[in-house]
Amino acid sequence: MMKGNKLVLAIPKGRIFREATPLLKAVGIEPEAEFDDPESRKLSFTTNKYGLNIIRVRSFDVATFVALGGAQLGFVGSDVLMEFDYQEIYAPLDLEIGKCRLIVAQTKETLEIDSPSRSSSMTVATKYPEVTKRYFAERGVQAECIKLNGAMELAPALNLSRRIVDLVDTGKTLAVNGLKEIEQIADVSSRLIVNRAALKTRPKLIGGWIKSFTEVVNGQKVK
Ligand code: PRP
Repeated sequence: MMKGNKLVLAIPKGRIFREATPLLKAVGIEPEAEFDDPESRKLSFTTNKYGLNIIRVRSFDVATFVALGGAQLGFVGSDVLMEFDYQEIYAPLDLEIGKCRLIVAQTKETLEIDSPSRSSSMTVATKYPEVTKRYFAERGVQAECIKLNGAMELAPALNLSRRIVDLVDTGKTLAVNGLKEIEQIADVSSRLIVNRAALKTRPKLIGGWIKSFTEVVNGQKVK
């Protein structure tokens, strides 16, 4: 039972998780029963595939686990990949799940009195300080970022920031918090990511999983 033989797939909690389950099933991975139990405090799960374990972590941490080789494979949003510049991560496949958008939003009230294009600096609350700084800098605006880990939508009303940069799906969260989308930064979807070094040392095994997921996503039958 060599530790080095274990293969670890990192899956994020939250909305990607729900969409990931059918994808796992389609490639023949069946996690142990507790995997589907939201009450479970377990973080690591065995599967029907010998030597393959799944870990359930926060979406930003999927990238960290894969980059550092703690996990060899992962599902992660392209928003997270935009924020981090991990050289060790290779993202060969768009899984076409977890689709949403990364946007800039502002309160309706400030929008009416504002002339944003003329401001040269701007306070922005976000989980994505790197993407935000880059995006605003390209438009000649220096973004002062307030890093929050969730509930960014509260920041403008409570005077933490003028704007937020966040994910939007249905738009409900923005609407109930009195915010309006003003610009789109990027379309987002989940990617299959692998650790480059692991792919080099175990090309057959990890390459095999890349192939299986690719076939499922492309709707092809395995020969
Ligand atoms: C995301 C995002 C928004 C919300 C947008 O949070 O940060 O708050 O979803 O979705 P909507 O447009 O459909 O309302 P999520 O629920 O994924 O939780 P998080 O705060 O942990 O990121």
